[in-house]
Amino acid sequence: MKNMKPPLLLFIFISVSLEALPISVTGKNVDAYRPTDDFAVDCGSSNSSTVENRNWIGDAADRSDYSPIGKTHSSITTLASSSSPRVPGTAPYLTARLSRSEFAYTFHVTAGPIFVRLHFVPSDYPNFRRVDSFFSVKAAGCTLLHNFSASLFADYPPSAGFFSKEFGLSVGEDQILNMTFTPTPGNSDAYAFVNGIEVVSMPESLSTPSSTQPRESSWQVSWRHTPWIPLKFSKR
Ligand SMILES: *[C@@H]1O[C@H](CO)[C@@H](O)[C@H](O)[C@H]1NC(C)=O
Ligand SMILES: *[C@@H]1O[C@H](CO)[C@@H](O)[C@H](O)[C@H]1NC(C)=O
Ligand SMILES: *[C@@H]1O[C@H](CO)[C@@H](O)[C@H](O)[C@H]1NC(C)=O
Repeated sequence: MKNMKPPLLLFIFISVSLEALPISVTGKNVDAYRPTDDFAVDCGSSNSSTVENRNWIGDAADRSDYSPIGKTHSSITTLASSSSPRVPGTAPYLTARLSRSEFAYTFHVTAGPIFVRLHFVPSDYPNFRRVDSFFSVKAAGCTLLHNFSASLFADYPPSAGFFSKEFGLSVGEDQILNMTFTPTPGNSDAYAFVNGIEVVSMPESLSTPSSTQPRESSWQVSWRHTPWIPLKFSKR
């Protein structure tokens, strides 16, 4: 029986500054917090690598736990060919997964609020022109990105060679987070891609409901100009 209730909404103060999030997460109130789920997927890579204490797992290895499911099994992996000196030469920026048909990742996570960060290096990939990325991303019943063009986003001044987008979501009792990448229909050149995916559970205290704030089924921030900020949910 389909559950007709909307997914448990995550309410968050829109006014929280971008910098406040990591700080509040590492604040002493949640000093003991250890995320129950903490995944970093290096999309398109058959290797795992550690970058600043973060272990990135390749999704392209044989029997990788994170291999995406493609409707037509046609998603491909490739080396990111960015010539921009601004793009770091480490995971997750070295490889990409791309497809002109839908593909999906499945994460097994505990129910509750979850933080998702998607990494993108808009670039000319073999057979995939930089300007042709147009796609949507859905997860946990929410549309995270719609007809999104990574190149238009990156080129919007001041331009950036790479960027990440972050979302707060709420995972239901089925404890499954499906993340679907769908090229925009109606454009045969359109493709979806992603370079890295981080999924980290959040303390409940970060998702305190507020009736005075706009209600959003997901919230989103993005960084374009700084390298990814390591997730530090506790002092180690
Ligand atoms: C993966 O490992 C192989 C060797 O096992 C290496 O040649 C290759 O450069 C690595 N790829 C990445 C993306 O690190
Ligand atoms: C997607 O966005 C592009 C660029 O803004 C636009 O030209 C196109 O019509 C959009 N496609 C759909 C299906 O919304
Ligand atoms: C997630 O995807 C799998 C495989 O496509 C599917 O069996 C499952 O029903 C999906 N779960 C949710 C919550 O969407």
